[in-house]
Amino acid sequence: MSEPRTLRPRRSCLAVPGSNPRFLEKAKGLPADQVFLDLEDACAPLAKPEARKNIVAALNEGGWGDKIRVVRVNDLTTHWTYRDVVEVVEGAGPNLDCIMLPKVQSAAQVQWLDFTLTQIEKTMGFEVGRIGIEAQIENAKGLIEVDAIAQASPRVETIIFGPADFMASINMKSLVVGALHPDYPADPFHYILMKILMAARAYDKQAIDGPFLQIRDVDAFRDVAKRAAMLGFDGKWVLHPGQIDAANEIFAPSQEDYDHAELILDAYDYYTSEAGGKKGSAMLGDEMIDEASRKMALVIAGKGRAAGM
Ligand code: GLV
Ligand code: MG
Repeated sequence: MSEPRTLRPRRSCLAVPGSNPRFLEKAKGLPADQVFLDLEDACAPLAKPEARKNIVAALNEGGWGDKIRVVRVNDLTTHWTYRDVVEVVEGAGPNLDCIMLPKVQSAAQVQWLDFTLTQIEKTMGFEVGRIGIEAQIENAKGLIEVDAIAQASPRVETIIFGPADFMASINMKSLVVGALHPDYPADPFHYILMKILMAARAYDKQAIDGPFLQIRDVDAFRDVAKRAAMLGFDGKWVLHPGQIDAANEIFAPSQEDYDHAELILDAYDYYTSEAGGKKGSAMLGDEMIDEASRKMALVIAGKGRAAGM
């Protein structure tokens, strides 16, 4: 396998319709870790050609700070995908970090995007291989192929759960995206999230949870986001500025957990050193710490450091 790409924090991934220049401008100043400028479901079919132009202009104008700049193209069952990719990447390749491919159903679809990006990069004289791929899992076929999708190209940076399309595709009997339902005593999304998370962790990708559509109910957003964060997901989509702070907080560790993780790392370093007695395990207060504790602490400390704690 090739070297994993350096993955930047994606606690909050803000959806911005490419057809709306006012929203594109506003998104530049919002505190999301990532923006994705949408050519797919947030753009009506007749608005897509204009949206491609808006997106190219917005990317080239700059002003995005250190946000990760992503464009979501249409999926490969439509006739729009190739023109989305060619127009956006030829027009704004150096000002773009990733292409998001929705409704991915096979490794071959990711490979199509990888080859197309390489051809455009070579033709245009852009750095080859810099632009990453975000793969959205939104139906049963995508989920059963997720391991192959995660390995399909070294460009893949994230595996994203698309709950709305997924619920529709498996005939789920609920209209509240991503939320628990009183008629089902457990979490109907647990298996799907875990399967995506395992593929992401096995191949060094980030795992991102999708949207929550009740945008005025930030408490309900927090409940859904916390469940994904506790499993180990790296971030979640936000559809409205009001969801951004909640996502940034929930996908970073609490200050208490972060401080404790740094303490475990310091203590472990000391006790395994010559001066600390070269111990394999030791006590930190009432807690026994060993190599596995160090790994757990490294995850929390890593998330905190990435969030600037
Ligand atoms: C996002 O694209 C979703 O379908 O949930
Ligand atoms: Mg979708």
